[in-house]
Amino acid sequence: MVKALLLENIHPLGRELLMHAGVEVVTAKGALDEDELIEALQGVDVLGIRSKTNLTARVLESAPDLLAVGAFCIGTNQIDLRAAAGRGVAAFNAPFSNTRSVVELALAEIIALTRRLTEKDKALHAGTWDKSATGAHEVRGRTLGIVGYGNIGTQLSVLAEALGMRVVFYDTAEKLALGNAQRMRSLDELLDVADVVTLHVDGRPGNAGMFGPAQFARMKEGSIFLNLSRGFLVDYAHLRDQIVSGRIVGAAVDVFAEEPKSQGDAFESELRDLPNVILTPHVGGSTEEAQKDIGMFVAGKLRDYLETGATALSVNVPALILDRPRDGSHRIAHLHRNVPGVLAAVNRTLAAGGANIESQVLSTSGDVGYVVTDLSTDLPASELAELLEMEPTIRVRALHPDSED
Ligand SMILES: NC(=O)c1ccc[n+]([C@@H]2O[C@H](COP(=O)([O-])OP(=O)(O)OC[C@H]3O[C@@H](n4cnc5c(N)ncnc54)[C@H](O)[C@@H]3O)[C@@H](O)[C@H]2O)c1
Repeated sequence: MVKALLLENIHPLGRELLMHAGVEVVTAKGALDEDELIEALQGVDVLGIRSKTNLTARVLESAPDLLAVGAFCIGTNQIDLRAAAGRGVAAFNAPFSNTRSVVELALAEIIALTRRLTEKDKALHAGTWDKSATGAHEVRGRTLGIVGYGNIGTQLSVLAEALGMRVVFYDTAEKLALGNAQRMRSLDELLDVADVVTLHVDGRPGNAGMFGPAQFARMKEGSIFLNLSRGFLVDYAHLRDQIVSGRIVGAAVDVFAEEPKSQGDAFESELRDLPNVILTPHVGGSTEEAQKDIGMFVAGKLRDYLETGATALSVNVPALILDRPRDGSHRIAHLHRNVPGVLAAVNRTLAAGGANIESQVLSTSGDVGYVVTDLSTDLPASELAELLEMEPTIRVRALHPDSED
């Protein structure tokens, strides 16, 4: 029986999905350190973690049974992805599951800041009745500038238009404009026209410090700034100066270059105690809905990999979108080092075993290649052993998925 170890309080629906697929599941609330993980992984085929468990090369080396790891979160920095691929451990994450949550927070903040709700709320809690329209606006008709038109930026674009905002965006990659959104040729062009500027770019190293004095200076007088992407992209000391001087009239920040490690730790930032500034502790994607979605999504990827060999959206091995094989066929999934001649060698071995190939797909990515072959007859054990012993072979699995009914 396939065995899974799920750490760090993964959503129960993830466990249920795997159990439903016939996997024996052991769960634990916390993370494990290297030595604990090595011990816990003996006899384990599938590991589920979140951000606090590190799957290092040393752990991988000591976990020969491990077939796949699921990061039940967005980031995969905690996994040595290259070492995992080199040992035939496919890694999966949930790149889209919390995007809607981020978009909804951004929208809530855009409205709250444009309306100066934070100030009205603070004043009334302090016992001051300040009924005035000064500086409070509708978002309808205002221009939203989205920097980074990816999973989050595009969804925000659609919903902001539904609120009557005019949307402009800038992305370094070629992107299809949704609805009436208008593509800007440069960040400066966007900053020239946007009443609200919101960052949704990814955290590639080249983006560090991408938003500093020159960009803030280019923003319109009286505009609003949001960052729910990554903290190290923005010069927050300069944002503070802009807020204090009144050039920028509101900001929402969810991400910081240095974030406290544990619940309840002290938080220091130059952005504390400023008017009309919303600070949130990196909760853009933290909703119960997102956690549930992540649990289902990653567990589904792990189940599909176990049952069919599908690697769609894997973050470290070549992606193959695979249907279930037809009833009665036998699937051989072969992960190998990406060197010339592997496909020919695999097929020679299959032919020597008298196997008739029904279908075959190959994909390579970086150092790793993945070929999946459906055969009309089972492969004799001697040829299976030959595939295992081929020099470039990383891992071979013979799969006999049940029919769907
Ligand atoms: N606050 C949270 O809790 C939370 C949750 C999820 C994601 N995020 C962050 O949100 C950001 C966006 O996530 P996503 O899923 O939409 O990412 P994505 O990869 O789908 O989109 C990022 C887009 O930014 C573009 N881009 C990269 N560098 C750029 C630059 N310098 N200028 C303009 N465009 C640039 C890319 O081409 C891409 O289209 C990421 O940084 C992610 O880490 C935060």
